[in-house]
Amino acid sequence: MPSIQFISHSNEETIRLGEEIGRALVAGDILALRGDLGAGKTTFIRGVAQGLRLNGADVRSPTFTLMNVYEKPGRLTLYHFDLYRLDQPQQVLALDYEEYFYGKGVCAVEWAQKLGPLTPTRCLEIEFAHRQENEREIKIALNSPEEMQKFIAKAWPGKCPDCRHCAAAKI
Ligand SMILES: Nc1ncnc2c1ncn2[C@@H]1O[C@H](COP(=O)(O)OP(=O)(O)OP(=O)(O)O)[C@@H](O)[C@H]1O
Ligand SMILES: [Mg+2]
Repeated sequence: MPSIQFISHSNEETIRLGEEIGRALVAGDILALRGDLGAGKTTFIRGVAQGLRLNGADVRSPTFTLMNVYEKPGRLTLYHFDLYRLDQPQQVLALDYEEYFYGKGVCAVEWAQKLGPLTPTRCLEIEFAHRQENEREIKIALNSPEEMQKFIAKAWPGKCPDCRHCAAAKI
């Protein structure tokens, strides 16, 4: 899978990256986020919400439910799943998850590895690694070089084909 890698040095940088990604999203896009506790997934989704012109400050991990919905005043509805407490992938079936995954909004799924066999085949895989206190490595992968190139051109318009993102993605 082709991927691009970023280093974030602060909350704000992670939010900004999320915002750049959020601006490029279209209906039906799914973000599958992985990474340890405190790696920055929710912080990133705050930026994604802003990129969709939703209120980033509203974004917090669903605690007593598996999903939060943010729908106003955005460009698209954002379904925010946090599957940390999920024991069996089949439990998401009870959420009617297909309605959200294959619907008209955008999904961001924290702890996406818990989906197991229910993981959608086409999604943006975003992996977070805790490097230092305020430093995070964020890796974004898509299924094919063509899709990656299209996405990069949309997220960072005018910077291709020589920008650092393209260079990092080796496309
Ligand atoms: N560069 C950075 N990017 C993101 N968060 C950072 C960064 N540096 C420090 N932090 C801190 O790390 C924490 C990230 O928390 P966040 O809730 O986003 O993580 P998470 O991956 O969603 O965790 P969880 O799995 O518990 O939901 C916050 O306290 C934030 O202030
Ligand atoms: Mg979180």
